[in-house]
Amino acid sequence: MNQTLTGKNILLIISGGIAAYKSLDLIRRLKERGAGVRCVLTGGGAQFVTPLSVAALSEEAVFQDLFSLKDESEMGHIRLSREADLLVVAPASADLMAKMAAGLANDLASTVLLATDKPVLFAPAMNTVMWDHPATKRNYRILLDDGLHAVGPGQGDLACGEVGAGRMSEPLEIVAAAENIIAGQPTGQPVAAPLKGRRAIVTSGPTYEAIDPVRYLANRSSGKQGHAIAAALAGLGAEVVLVAGPNNQPDPSRVTIRNIESAAQMLAACEAALPADIAVCAAAVADWRVAGEAEQKMKKDGSGRPPALNLVENPDILATLSQMNGGRPSLVVGFAAETEKVVDHAQSKRTRKGCDWIVANDVGTGTRVMGGDENTVHLITAADVENWPKMPKDAVATTLAKRIADHFINHFGSE
Ligand code: CTP
Repeated sequence: MNQTLTGKNILLIISGGIAAYKSLDLIRRLKERGAGVRCVLTGGGAQFVTPLSVAALSEEAVFQDLFSLKDESEMGHIRLSREADLLVVAPASADLMAKMAAGLANDLASTVLLATDKPVLFAPAMNTVMWDHPATKRNYRILLDDGLHAVGPGQGDLACGEVGAGRMSEPLEIVAAAENIIAGQPTGQPVAAPLKGRRAIVTSGPTYEAIDPVRYLANRSSGKQGHAIAAALAGLGAEVVLVAGPNNQPDPSRVTIRNIESAAQMLAACEAALPADIAVCAAAVADWRVAGEAEQKMKKDGSGRPPALNLVENPDILATLSQMNGGRPSLVVGFAAETEKVVDHAQSKRTRKGCDWIVANDVGTGTRVMGGDENTVHLITAADVENWPKMPKDAVATTLAKRIADHFINHFGSE
């Protein structure tokens, strides 16, 4: 796992918004990476998450009031803002962004933000009309011009029932942005962009292969891994097209989504997204589709005999991209889900399909990888087999994205 946050102190400011519940997970993600996390909870924030949950997860006192004698005797607000290596505002409400842009200091959060001499990362979260309001846009621009770092917001279903931009970035996207800042990247957006100017195609999720208008063949892929990779590559500055089969994952921010159903549609969407420098095929593409999908719903014929489904092989997207004659992405990465002889099978899959790297994972019975949160993988290149420790799928994604960025820096220098 990335060690950048180990031993670092993060001051997390949680302002008011339904997205505050995600900040509880953010605390856990920061702490599991070895960071110390102190939290400031605004009055609005405390309407959504309790000080007790924040204190329990951060294992620190929670700071709430500017004029609290207790807080000030424990830790003055200046010290609070200066002892941190990084301030993270998540969620950053429209109200708090406006205060920050105006330089107000009328509560603990805004005072700490005005008093700090450390980098500040903010993750806007609000209703889409509020986000689109010229005042918010102005404040956002002012904050970036002032050298603050932003992550998100993303697109998707908002808690208010509307759909659009304004959704707070997922905790791991915020973690990746924090890691980039701590790693010493220059201020302003993008926070760190070793893949800036690079185009990436990522496939994710299952494919659905229609039998008739109401039935289909599918598999249990959740899309977690592919979506996390798309987010991680975008986090490093790549321009990402995510070609996704049906899934329930939130759309990652700053990624172009192409939703498809079948393998044939996935291939067409990938080809339409070319040219690209990077292709990562993380989708669990159905190997077969039904020959001659029925135009009408198939009916039982009363004989008691089920209909025969004739299957034909689907196009192999990874092999197609790997074996392109002109315009092949310069780095093509596949996944190999294996239940036995994981490395051996993956090595021969890499040569057979013609991709550059294979991320091999053990999906044998009992590993609970399919649909689960963790993955034990091996990265297989032409020269090497790296055994990565068991880690969450998001950490696999950030580690892989970092390896991809290093590959481009080593081969082509930084942009
Ligand atoms: N893949 C693809 N298109 C397909 C099948 C697979 O792009 N029609 C990609 C997957 O996204 C993954 C890799 O190929 O990156 C390996 O998938 P896997 O299912 O493990 O391999 P198979 O091709 O099904 O090989 P096998 O049946 O031998 O395991």
